[in-house]
Amino acid sequence: MEILGLQASPRRGGNSEYLLKAFMERARSYGARTTVLEVSRAKIKPCIELTVCEKKGTCPLRDEMADHVYGRLRRAEIVVVASPVFFYNFPAQLKALIDRSQVLWSRKYRLKLKDPKSGRRKGFLLAVGATSGARLFEGMELTARYFFDAIDAAYAGSLTYNGIEGKGQVRQVPGLEDDLNRAAADLCGPFGNRPKVLCLGKKNSGASRMAAAFMQVKAGDRLDVVSAGTSPAADIRPETVAAMAGEKIDLAFQRPRSLADLSPDFRPDYLVATTAAGETGDDPAAGRKIEWNLASNLSAEKLREEVKTRVDQFLSNLFK
Ligand SMILES: Cc1cc2nc3c(=O)[nH]c(=O)nc-3n(C[C@H](O)[C@H](O)[C@H](O)COP(=O)(O)O)c2cc1C
Repeated sequence: MEILGLQASPRRGGNSEYLLKAFMERARSYGARTTVLEVSRAKIKPCIELTVCEKKGTCPLRDEMADHVYGRLRRAEIVVVASPVFFYNFPAQLKALIDRSQVLWSRKYRLKLKDPKSGRRKGFLLAVGATSGARLFEGMELTARYFFDAIDAAYAGSLTYNGIEGKGQVRQVPGLEDDLNRAAADLCGPFGNRPKVLCLGKKNSGASRMAAAFMQVKAGDRLDVVSAGTSPAADIRPETVAAMAGEKIDLAFQRPRSLADLSPDFRPDYLVATTAAGETGDDPAAGRKIEWNLASNLSAEKLREEVKTRVDQFLSNLFK
């Protein structure tokens, strides 16, 4: 299970930062692989409404959003936003990221493409504000719900604390640790005990990506599926992305991943090697290794069909 934290406060050592750190520590105890984006320090340009995304599903603006944020949103199974209230909503830097997620909204609703993790990604909000009006978090919650929908995450709830102004003051909230324990258990518990599958290729830009995407779509939240390569390419092959788009499955923004990039604690129960025998070199220790030995001369469409059949066989053996 991969969790991405979006830390929206510009204040170092502040309340949002504390909440997110405390949540992530608990999430890791459920086996989560966690990363945090310090949103206020990321170079993300605000949307200037070129509306290219509505037609093509891409954004011409070049910045960190394009370089890695879309990809990190796609990789995560849980996205946790931690933020202070600024004028009844999120700080501007996070709002820029949210507005730029219109690209993902467009791919989902205009181009009708399906993110392989849709249907099981979850979004959670941690928030603090200084005042105590009954409607303090309403603006944020509405924005968060709409953002989570755009990134294909179901809104899984929030922990919000009012009357919190001084740096670190949130630590003194009575019952805070229990709240965080409960939230982590509710969100991560169901994800914790799934069999782990590693789809391993060489470049992680063709069959191993297709295999992971089909498994994610077909197995839903019953499996923790990760895809990696022993010598990853810079990008997924455009032919792979196009062939999967033919199935309405969206691999855009995903990047080949190296084995070294996986947490050392990641021990797959099943390793599915999509390349020819022996091509992946030293594999990580796995419960069971399955070699597909796929032919290397297939067109992307033929490869997709072959991979789909193998995934169906793998899943029917696994869940019989
Ligand atoms: C620019 C700015 C706008 C703010 N707007 C609000 C607001 O509308 N309502 C509120 O209750 N607190 C507001 N606050 C206070 C913060 O939400 C509060 O101090 C919070 O605890 C800061 O969290 P942090 O330590 O994670 O940055 C604002 C603070 C700043 C700097």
